[in-house]
Amino acid sequence: MFTPYRTIQQVSIITYEIEEPMYQIVSAQFLAENIKKIEIEAPRIAKKRKAGQFVMIRVGETGERIPLTIAGSDPEKGTITIIVQGMGKSTRELNRKEAGDTIHDIVGPLGTPSHIENFGTAVSIGGGVGTAIAYPTAVALKEAGNNVITINGARSKDLVILEKEMAAVSDEAYITTDDGSYGFHGFVTQKLQELIDSGKKIDLVLAIGPIPMMRAVAEVTRPYNIKTVVSLNPIMVDGTGMCGGCRVTVNNETKFACVDGPEFDAHQVDFKNLMDRNKLYLPEEKHSTDAFAHKCHMHKQA
Ligand code: NAD
Ligand code: FES
Repeated sequence: MFTPYRTIQQVSIITYEIEEPMYQIVSAQFLAENIKKIEIEAPRIAKKRKAGQFVMIRVGETGERIPLTIAGSDPEKGTITIIVQGMGKSTRELNRKEAGDTIHDIVGPLGTPSHIENFGTAVSIGGGVGTAIAYPTAVALKEAGNNVITINGARSKDLVILEKEMAAVSDEAYITTDDGSYGFHGFVTQKLQELIDSGKKIDLVLAIGPIPMMRAVAEVTRPYNIKTVVSLNPIMVDGTGMCGGCRVTVNNETKFACVDGPEFDAHQVDFKNLMDRNKLYLPEEKHSTDAFAHKCHMHKQA
């Protein structure tokens, strides 16, 4: 029988920090339209976090909690960096913040860190804002001695993020754009197929981005039996295994992305189930986003 909730015993093994409320933003700048890099003072999280982990952020006292992967940290300075795409109400609210502003609360680091070892040749693929999540794992893979190839895909040149950062940790770095305005003309999957067809021996593929992209990457690597890992982004509420909101189906079993993941074997993920579940609250999300946009417009007029 399926039990959606974790027992207290299961949850008690999770250790995470709840920083004191009100986190100061140290710096904030847009990397591309609607995509902002925000550095926040959170010293305990900065010390503990590992590649692949995330934080739950509540922008204001009455806001929802949103999961955001930690793109980087500076333990000396006591800061963590997140990269946020303004999509719904809370992410848009966060993207309006500037240096000196505060965030109400942050919990983390959460999730199981990326499995890092010297696999040999690892291809790290970031699709759009997913590059912000692929980046820290690419850094860790490089530090572990892998030959790192990165594919950084975006719809067009102005949406490419972290180009220099990805190149700095890559033995080979590729940019792809859907419209051909920069780099390789096509999807990240086409570049990956090209690499496989060239006879390159690939030992690991890590793919992070929109669900259709991760599903397509899994189908490219499946016939070659190349180990492939994806980072899933289901709806999360608490981020600690308590609510069951982040249920995903992997190898026909129910897993909680917030504690069992967010990274899973791409060849075993039920992507359709993930897509369907992520659409569950679309009307409510739209209502909330529209109300926020209306409020901002009223503020501008006042
Ligand atoms: P996007 O739609 O611009 O796609 C980025 C790249 O992914 C494209 O340039 C293309 O190369 C590739 N791609 C997209 N669809 C593909 C397909 N069907 N087949 C092959 N390749 C494909 O990406 P975006 O607008 O930056 O991403 C937004 C989406 O990413 C949101 O839905 C967001 O929820 C999701 N996201 C996921 C994660 C995660 O953890 N997996 C993290 C951040 C964002
Ligand atoms: Fe609640 Fe994962 S169980 S977000």
